Amino acid sequence: MDFTNKVVLITGASSGIGAATAIYFSKLSAKLALTGRKENNLKKIALYCEKAKGIKPLTIVADLTEDIDVEKLVKETIEHYGRLDVLVNNAGVLTTGGIKDTNMEKYDRVMSTNMRAVYHLTMLCVPHLSASKGSIINVSSIVSSKANTIYLPYNISKAALDHFTRCVALELAPDGVRVNSVNPSFVKTNILKDMGLTEDQIELLVQNIVSRTPMKKTVEANDVAGVIAFLASDQAKSITGSCMSVDGGSILY
Ligand SMILES: NC(=O)c1ccc[n+]([C@@H]2O[C@H](COP(=O)([O-])OP(=O)(O)OC[C@H]3O[C@@H](n4cnc5c(N)ncnc54)[C@H](OP(=O)(O)O)[C@@H]3O)[C@@H](O)[C@H]2O)c1
Repeated sequence: MDFTNKVVLITGASSGIGAATAIYFSKLSAKLALTGRKENNLKKIALYCEKAKGIKPLTIVADLTEDIDVEKLVKETIEHYGRLDVLVNNAGVLTTGGIKDTNMEKYDRVMSTNMRAVYHLTMLCVPHLSASKGSIINVSSIVSSKANTIYLPYNISKAALDHFTRCVALELAPDGVRVNSVNPSFVKTNILKDMGLTEDQIELLVQNIVSRTPMKKTVEANDVAGVIAFLASDQAKSITGSCMSVDGGSILY
């Protein structure tokens, strides 16, 4: 795979799967626009990326729940590079709670990041992706189709994202723009720490997940990054509207 002269915009590039995806694309010679809220982390990942092929990424600090920041992100990317080939909608947040122990603040926070921001950013990127016959990859989750009782707002945000993928894929197919999702199972990133879990709690969770996964291992961020790059590449030129599990077989249970 080669992304020379291709411009790739990645949200949530300051941590976890987004950071791994940025590094993966940098090794494939992509021109990167990286965004996140934590400037220090973003700069650290950008430096890592630059070391791969000597191509300096554009970094833009933005809170995707702020409309003005989303607009700034697209404007600055296009001003800097003059084009956009790949949009990776990766940024997301997780919160606990089922219907008995939830509240509307949790619902709004998750939906505004995991779905509303994706809708807004994608909408603003479509003219540029149509011009380049580019591609969109949304980072969803296996919980979009596998029910559980502990992350209700998150689960439904990812179910909505999968259907967004299918509907937008259908709408943009005549424009030559492909739209796909990746649906990972558990990946050890900062998402659980940010939710307040301790290292011990995370370790227990990892053991539990490994025991319930057919392949008896957890997925790594780099595994997901590889699938994202594949879906964005010409090797996937006949794939659109798909939601691809990256889950060690977890969905099979
Ligand atoms: N880890 C898993 O087990 C797992 C499994 C399936 C799917 N996923 C999905 O993978 C994606 C990445 O998650 P991760 O596990 O890599 O989590 P992570 O390490 O916590 O990274 C989340 C990223 O999203 C960014 N972000 C969150 N809210 C934002 C906002 N309002 N505006 C801008 N950026 C925001 C964060 O930026 P800052 O840190 O700079 O604030 C960070 O870069 C998410 O969509 C998640 O749902 C994760």
